[in-house]
Amino acid sequence: MTTGSFAAVIRFLTAGESHGPALVVVLEGVPAGLELSTADIAGELARRRLGFGRGPRMRFEEDVVEFLGGVRHGRTLGSPIAVQIANTEWTRNPEKWGTEMSPAAEDGPTVAPLTQVRPGHADLAGMQKYGFTDARDVLERASARETAARVAAGAVAKKLLAKLGVRIVSHVVQLGPVRVPAGVRPGPEDLDRVDESEVRCIDATAADEMIKEIRSAAKDGDSLGGIIEVVAYGVPVGLGSHVHWDRKLDSALARSVMSIQAVKGVEIGDGFEVAGRRGSDAHDAVTWSQDDGYRRSSSLAGGVEGGISTGEPLVVRAAMKPLATLNRPTLATVDVLSKEAGVSFKERTDVTAVPACGVVAEHMVALTLVDEVARKFGGDSVDELVRNHQGFLDALAQGPVGV
Ligand SMILES: Cc1cc2nc3c(=O)[nH]c(=O)nc-3n(C[C@H](O)[C@H](O)[C@H](O)COP(=O)(O)O)c2cc1C
Repeated sequence: MTTGSFAAVIRFLTAGESHGPALVVVLEGVPAGLELSTADIAGELARRRLGFGRGPRMRFEEDVVEFLGGVRHGRTLGSPIAVQIANTEWTRNPEKWGTEMSPAAEDGPTVAPLTQVRPGHADLAGMQKYGFTDARDVLERASARETAARVAAGAVAKKLLAKLGVRIVSHVVQLGPVRVPAGVRPGPEDLDRVDESEVRCIDATAADEMIKEIRSAAKDGDSLGGIIEVVAYGVPVGLGSHVHWDRKLDSALARSVMSIQAVKGVEIGDGFEVAGRRGSDAHDAVTWSQDDGYRRSSSLAGGVEGGISTGEPLVVRAAMKPLATLNRPTLATVDVLSKEAGVSFKERTDVTAVPACGVVAEHMVALTLVDEVARKFGGDSVDELVRNHQGFLDALAQGPVGV
């Protein structure tokens, strides 16, 4: 679910383990009549696998998508949409994973349990919380492979939002210490251009520096974090609300983006930077003209005021920590059975997943926005939703405050 403690209108749940047979997502509340194909979802999943600095698993994965419910003859039915993403590692090596991840009691335990916990992962806290003696019982679910299911749900959300003219782009603004110059921001048409960059960065000079930085970290067996930015264009005024903490759009966005594995900070607009300014220099002035209606002179608040979307581009940024698994492990840890000290075991791993994290964040923003759209405009069919949205805009234009 993408919102706070009150019921979401469009909600989703994912299931599945990293090396299980498949990931599954059930997305409920999508109106009937949205054209949808497995290619729509597979296309977004392929974008999640992009990025310089990712390991061999990304090349093996194929993300074979199947609808198990909610779609008939290329259109949504209004019923829950169930999507299955087959796990190609399972199909490639069914003997290994079929036994190791088997749900049948008689198939296990097969191999020695993982008892040396990995620092920076959910292993130790998860084992303590659930009473497990094998870290695999935690890591299989904590793994960011789960984000493929979120992207599948988000792909549907993006398609529905496009019916209202909402377009969402994401890009990398910092990778390791390399940052794009201030003000570099892709427009609504620039997503393909971002995806063409190996690091999903539209500033060519910064992108080159980022690639150098990744190469250098890779040589050292180390990893890199960074910052991604999601910008949603065409978001209508009036999503979210000032009336309750859990109805504020910024709080819903922060929660959903913060839930992405390895994201440790979220800001709306220029959140952290603005904190150091004087008030006179920290807010977006309101202007009005016959041609453009109300505008904000800048985007310091990131398109949200008082928990309500303003109609300006919505800007959400997320900080991703450097990946905790290293190709040359140096982090000290212990074996929970022997209590012996050691160094985190060696695995083949990505150097960075910041470019992919941007794609995941784009879809989490879409899921949050689509839920708010459904709450504000409602409708059992896409036509009804679009009509309701247009009715709101017309009423606004004719009202005393105007647009
Ligand atoms: C797209 C994506 C890919 C990731 N790939 C890796 C990886 O290859 N190695 C790793 O150590 N962590 C990776 N992570 C992060 C871990 O899943 C995450 O740090 C871990 O589950 C602990 O959760 P926490 O960092 O939120 O506390 C990835 C995260 C994302 C969003």
